[in-house]
Amino acid sequence: MTSILECRGLTKVYGKVIAVNNVSLGIGRGETKVIFGPSGSGKSTLLRCLGLLEKPTKGSIYFNGVDVYASKQDLNKLRARIGFVFQDPSLFRHLTALGNVMLGLKHVLGLSDAEARRKAYEALKLVKMEDWANYYPAQLSGGQQQRVGIARAISMDPEVVLFDEPTAALDVELKWEVIAVMRDLAERGTTMLVATHELRFAREVADEMIFMDQGQIIEAGSPDHFFTSPNTERARKFMAKILG
Ligand SMILES: Nc1ncnc2c1ncn2[C@@H]1O[C@H](COP(=O)(O)OP(=O)(O)O)[C@@H](O)[C@H]1O
Ligand SMILES: [Mg+2]
Repeated sequence: MTSILECRGLTKVYGKVIAVNNVSLGIGRGETKVIFGPSGSGKSTLLRCLGLLEKPTKGSIYFNGVDVYASKQDLNKLRARIGFVFQDPSLFRHLTALGNVMLGLKHVLGLSDAEARRKAYEALKLVKMEDWANYYPAQLSGGQQQRVGIARAISMDPEVVLFDEPTAALDVELKWEVIAVMRDLAERGTTMLVATHELRFAREVADEMIFMDQGQIIEAGSPDHFFTSPNTERARKFMAKILG
């Protein structure tokens, strides 16, 4: 199977820091993969590179089998096909939930107002936020704002969605509504790569878990593998710490 998104030997260096060190991975249609690892292990940098928001120092990125940087691709066109959900959704305060979701549909995809509205509603429904469509961010909880952030990403019908610790900034009670939405998306066959420490989510839906430390993939395998017999002491210790 050709991966939708793949990197080979991806390395990203900032000054003297090797944030990502020779990472290769691929994500196929309909798969859910989870990246986890300590703070500073390179998860965000890797996701930003895969989302074409930053250019790797070394290595290649393939989108549907095409080397993105070797072949004079229109990066903005490709970016529009990769959804990105950040830790902080950073919604526009002066726009409603619906307005926030419509923005990319109108200005990136160039849809008419009516068509953008229809698609935005559809996306808000998928994250169970349609009843809040006309509310402003300040009137929404952190979990609801993040669900709007997810709606904004999926409304564009991306081929893959990258999530960078989407629940890390939320209180425990609010995490679960966001995780429930992500579980729904995974079960609907959305192709997703998720950096998260929510190991229960990983256990339930991940096709593969990828453990990173110091910019490298230390170990990758099924949730079963990680929950029963991880190969490395580092992965075992990190999981024990997270699971308490
Ligand atoms: N824009 C940047 N400039 C300089 N150093 C960075 C930048 N982004 C990340 N880093 C460094 O790269 C390493 C990996 O960071 P990051 O990708 O944010 O890890 P994680 O998301 O796993 O916490 C860290 O040492 C971090 O300080
Ligand atoms: Mg991070």
